[in-house]
Amino acid sequence: MAEAQIIDGKAFAARLREKIAACVAALKRDHGLVPSLSVVLVGEDQASQVYVRNKGRQTEEAGMISATHRLPAETPEGELLDLIGTLNGDETIHGILVQLPLPDRIDEAKVIAAIDPAKDVDGFHTTNVGRLWTGLDAPVPCTPQGCLLMLKETLGELKGKRALVLGRSNIVGKPMAALLLAEHCTVTIAHSRTEDLPERCREADILIAAVGRPEMVRGDWIKPGAAVIDVGINRVEAPEKGDGKTRLVGDVAFDEAKRVAGFITPVPGGVGPMTIANLLRNTVIAACRQNGLPDPWYKRR
Ligand code: GUN
Repeated sequence: MAEAQIIDGKAFAARLREKIAACVAALKRDHGLVPSLSVVLVGEDQASQVYVRNKGRQTEEAGMISATHRLPAETPEGELLDLIGTLNGDETIHGILVQLPLPDRIDEAKVIAAIDPAKDVDGFHTTNVGRLWTGLDAPVPCTPQGCLLMLKETLGELKGKRALVLGRSNIVGKPMAALLLAEHCTVTIAHSRTEDLPERCREADILIAAVGRPEMVRGDWIKPGAAVIDVGINRVEAPEKGDGKTRLVGDVAFDEAKRVAGFITPVPGGVGPMTIANLLRNTVIAACRQNGLPDPWYKRR
């Protein structure tokens, strides 16, 4: 059997960013509106710092306004909530993102609840989660939206397909299941404690791995010809590259999986680049909504 077709997330994201930049230019020209995103980072988590830097850079490259608020790890919860209150009340700011994870002392749910749902470009506020699950228009969490766009462009119609989402996080697993259900897939949410996990995975035409365990999904867990979307980004030791060196791997054992799957995303260069592109898209949509303009991507379901 031929090897899987690689789904090039980098190329998908570059095309999406081009469309976003064109949209931003038109908003500026026709309405004098420049979408603006504020990102809040608490603490010094290495991976979060890289993500936040990339978000800021790509926001500006798309022609939008970016602001990053870096707070020390010991910032009191009240101070963070006050900052969110200020950003909520500022009409020139259209999108607010608080980078997760937050330090343990801070109540994540309380912080997310404090964000104005209209500015919640992550789609994490319970109002927006409820809207997504009930089929109402809502900002869609960026990573699952990226997975869905790549699946639809690669496979076309998803109706009736068996999809298995491995992982049940609020950021990826649960919203991914909601999106696939809205596309009329038959959806299973599985996780590390699911019984007979390899067998369950082997039933899936679409397998989304978002469990955060390096190379957990083996080649023989995959249905021949299936589409495999690997959301995992795990840093592991790589002694073959030299002392103390590391490399990134997904939740799927890529070399094994590509011999069985029909389509597969690589790590890096698969889902990752699509996440930020969708954040930019959500910011543009939020800016339009807050200014009484139509969502440029709106499609009635
Ligand atoms: N941490 C990892 N992914 C995300 C994301 O999509 N949004 C936020 N706010 N934090 C994250």
